Amino acid sequence: MKHTFSLLVIAAASLGASAAVPATSEPALKDVFGDKFRVAVAINDAQAKEIDKEGAAIVKHHFNTVVAENVMKCSEIHPEKNRYHWDDADAFVEFAERNGMTVIGHCLIWHSQLAPWFLYDDEGKYVSADTLKARMRDHIHAVVGRYKGRVKGWDVVNEAIVESGKYRNSGFYKILGEEFIPLAFQYAHEADPEAELYYNDYGMNVPGRRDGVVRMVQDLKRRGLRIDAVGMQAHMGMDYPDFREFEDALNAFAATGCKVMITEWDMSALPTFSRSSNVGDVAAYQKALNPYPDALPEDVSAHWNSRMDAFFSLFLRHSDVINRVTAWGVTDGNSWKNGFPVRGRHDYPLLFDRNYEMKPFLKNLVNYHKHK
Ligand code: XIL
Repeated sequence: MKHTFSLLVIAAASLGASAAVPATSEPALKDVFGDKFRVAVAINDAQAKEIDKEGAAIVKHHFNTVVAENVMKCSEIHPEKNRYHWDDADAFVEFAERNGMTVIGHCLIWHSQLAPWFLYDDEGKYVSADTLKARMRDHIHAVVGRYKGRVKGWDVVNEAIVESGKYRNSGFYKILGEEFIPLAFQYAHEADPEAELYYNDYGMNVPGRRDGVVRMVQDLKRRGLRIDAVGMQAHMGMDYPDFREFEDALNAFAATGCKVMITEWDMSALPTFSRSSNVGDVAAYQKALNPYPDALPEDVSAHWNSRMDAFFSLFLRHSDVINRVTAWGVTDGNSWKNGFPVRGRHDYPLLFDRNYEMKPFLKNLVNYHKHK
């Protein structure tokens, strides 16, 4: 009898290990890690409006902070010179407030997803420096002003430094030179003196960009402008970033006196796309780029989980300077990585899978840390 019982227990236990556990039954990430840093996620319109009910339930259960994946970007919120589109951003902020979550604003000045009118006059030529300053000021004052006291902090400038450490040759730079960055920080601070202000960029492990960002941050500080944190986007893959370089960069940003935020974390499980790849056989090339349309093979999944574990553990070790960790999307099905940098791929980059289940590395970490 005893024998039969223990067999049953083992059978039940192994069944439990493989059976689906709803992510909302797992210990909440915000409860387990919330004393280390803000546990944040970027949400889409369907989650903010609770059309994606299961996605919204994960957000409410696990996260204490949200970022809008798109609806606060210039092209969305200010599509025409004399027209703002507030509805979606309002719905996003209201969702957060209804659920007691902190709101982060993304983003004010960025060359991408910029409203098409922003840099041009009626003849399609670049506007003058003075006109662009006025447009930046109006835009920043309107957006930051509308959510004053409701958005904790803003990504003021996004992606302005390239890998060499130089300024990106964007329209903002062409018209205003380096000044566009301090101006953006000044306007944001005028609009909401209480709001935290951040500089955000990708590929921050690359030494050239790292040093360029450090110089830019020091320049802002020398001018007496407010900057609270450097955001490391942390869009990762299986072979980048280099772990040491990433940690070095994190330390370099912290040494400026700023906090560090992991702002857009995801890790593609697919082969890294390279423009220089041989595209002679297009079909074979497509297959090589999208090798796991149904499921991730176990060895790849194990590698992905161990890399994610290593980075999350790094974030925990540096929680004295990292005050937010943000997943760039809720489930794999939502991720922008399914469409970038190659369209139509099936990727596996986030903390929850397409069945709304928590990924194994995170389950382990949560269960380990919840007892601490
Ligand atoms: C991405 C969104 O996830 C996509 O939905 C959108 O189509 C393109 O932008 N750096 C950023 C983010 O700062 O705003 C980007 O988000 C990803 C790269």
